Amino acid sequence: AAVDGILAELFARLGNRQDQLLPVLHGLQDSAGYIPPDSVPAIAQHFNLSRAEVHGVITFYHYFRTEAPPRCVVQVCRAEACQSMGADALLEHAEQALGCGLHGRSADGTFGLEPVYCLGHCASSPALTINEAVFARVTPARFDALIAEVMA
Ligand code: FES
Repeated sequence: AAVDGILAELFARLGNRQDQLLPVLHGLQDSAGYIPPDSVPAIAQHFNLSRAEVHGVITFYHYFRTEAPPRCVVQVCRAEACQSMGADALLEHAEQALGCGLHGRSADGTFGLEPVYCLGHCASSPALTINEAVFARVTPARFDALIAEVMA
């Protein structure tokens, strides 16, 4: 329903000339976080295009996502200073706690886990980011507390 509202607003604002297809797709991804596949029929109808044409445009641009992004993205620093301060153990803990491997997503899509190479907090490693906020000196226990906070 949220997506319907976003689309209605975009359609009203941008009109239905076919050169507005990309602006609508960008607007939808900006607001909803991705392009839900079941929004394609409404978009196709609005622009008087086939579903295949709209789908083709979405898949042509790698920028567009057709899956909801994870609610919580964790990036663990894999660079040297953090490695020497226990980043491997922290990563292992994160994989277990989140239920996903590096470059992966948890089965329910809630968590994503990515490597990152130095966050500028080498003096207080190991460091990581949670939804783009940087945390340093992260122990496994603190990791659990931070995740619980984000998910509260
Ligand atoms: Fe991890 Fe610099 S090496 S923050």
